[in-house]
Amino acid sequence: MRDIKFLTKNFGKYDTNSIGSYMSIGGFEALKKAVNMDPQEITDLIASVKVKGRGGAEYDLGRKWSQAREVRGENKIIICNADEGETTTFKDRVLLKNDPFNLIEAMIIAGYVVGATEGFIYMRAEYFCYRASILSAIRQAKNYGFLGTNILGKGFDFNIRLYSGAGAYVCGEGTALIRSIEGKAGRPRMKPPFIKQSGAFARPTCLNNVESLSIVPHLLMDTEGVYASCGGGGSIGTKLVSVAGNVNCPGTFEIPFGTPVREIIYDLAGGVQKDRKIRLIQFGGASGKIADDSILDTPYTYEDLRAAGVMVGSGGILVIDERTSVLDFLRMNQEFFSEESCGQCTPCREGNLHIKIILDKMAEGTATAEDIHMMKKIAKVMSMSSLCGLGETAQNTLMSAMKVFPEVFEAGGAK
Ligand SMILES: Cc1cc2nc3c(=O)[nH]c(=O)nc-3n(C[C@H](O)[C@H](O)[C@H](O)COP(=O)(O)O)c2cc1C
Ligand code: SF4
Repeated sequence: MRDIKFLTKNFGKYDTNSIGSYMSIGGFEALKKAVNMDPQEITDLIASVKVKGRGGAEYDLGRKWSQAREVRGENKIIICNADEGETTTFKDRVLLKNDPFNLIEAMIIAGYVVGATEGFIYMRAEYFCYRASILSAIRQAKNYGFLGTNILGKGFDFNIRLYSGAGAYVCGEGTALIRSIEGKAGRPRMKPPFIKQSGAFARPTCLNNVESLSIVPHLLMDTEGVYASCGGGGSIGTKLVSVAGNVNCPGTFEIPFGTPVREIIYDLAGGVQKDRKIRLIQFGGASGKIADDSILDTPYTYEDLRAAGVMVGSGGILVIDERTSVLDFLRMNQEFFSEESCGQCTPCREGNLHIKIILDKMAEGTATAEDIHMMKKIAKVMSMSSLCGLGETAQNTLMSAMKVFPEVFEAGGAK
């Protein structure tokens, strides 16, 4: 069984309410090191181990920070996306809970690299229980001079503010999140302008996921190259995965990239309850794709999962056992999107609803071959013409189900 502590190595090692306790285990050493480095050296280091953003889009972190640094503009902003609304995804929560100071340190480093003066943490409403400790960490960091003006005597100013969402999945999308921070309705907007040029309050903004940010202080202090020694190819390092569904021990686990899916489900998550058969596994939350149990021996890497028809995405892994039919699972997934679509654009608002109606007809045994054909067409139109990532990816699960379980859709789905 592979179990590694790189990103999670501070867990349980310090009192998360005390900056002194954090500093006693080496806290803020990475920041001290960072401010004595050229920002380019830091982005090069991140790029050398090919860190991809952990929020779902898998965008290169080193490249994102370099681009954000190059953007011209005053008062740049770093946003930490702690919305974590993707279903079956709860790995950012463990970082917020167990290592809040590392996140604060990471954001200050990001601010230094990008040339930002302010950082915002946008945390989902349901994580209100972590508000006090995050606010306390911000306050203590300020008292110690790690936040504020002229940080560590380097003439660099940076402050952090915490915002809470109000429970909308779509507010994890960058432009919707920013509108929410600005006090507007949390609905996505068209791009361009891109966030990096005109984000929160029209200021250049660099948006990153909690896990993406949290890697950086550890990476800066990784003199032994532990991170680089894990995984390989385009999937270097470690990854937090959250395993949910019909497993014996659901939870968040840190794995080296390359760990076979079987080990994650059977060794780390304790296997399927009552040794039932696996019906399907969904990777990357509701907007992710599904596979059957033939994926068990696939190594968990960006490349291998993609080749197997799924994706890392948000890092969620949902195991559904034989008691649930593929169709019922799809109906449930589709209901989520019908609920969470912000309704602003037609393909997503109407498309999600219509797909749900056809899936329900399939369950009743009244769907025709024409309905199935129409469902495919709607899904295609949605992916091509929706305004934001929600509508573009909402039918990922359905389309992958059509490939993996074609029999479900035969004869008008009357099975
Ligand atoms: C509907 C929707 C919801 C999203 N929710 C989240 C989220 O909860 N957390 C997150 O980090 N990224 C989320 N994203 C992705 C963000 O838009 C963005 O790509 C990410 O925060 C960038 O950070 P990264 O580069 O570190 O991955 C969501 C995207 C969409 C389209
Ligand atoms: S794709 Fe869906 S969630 Fe995104 S803007 Fe359009 S209606 Fe709203």
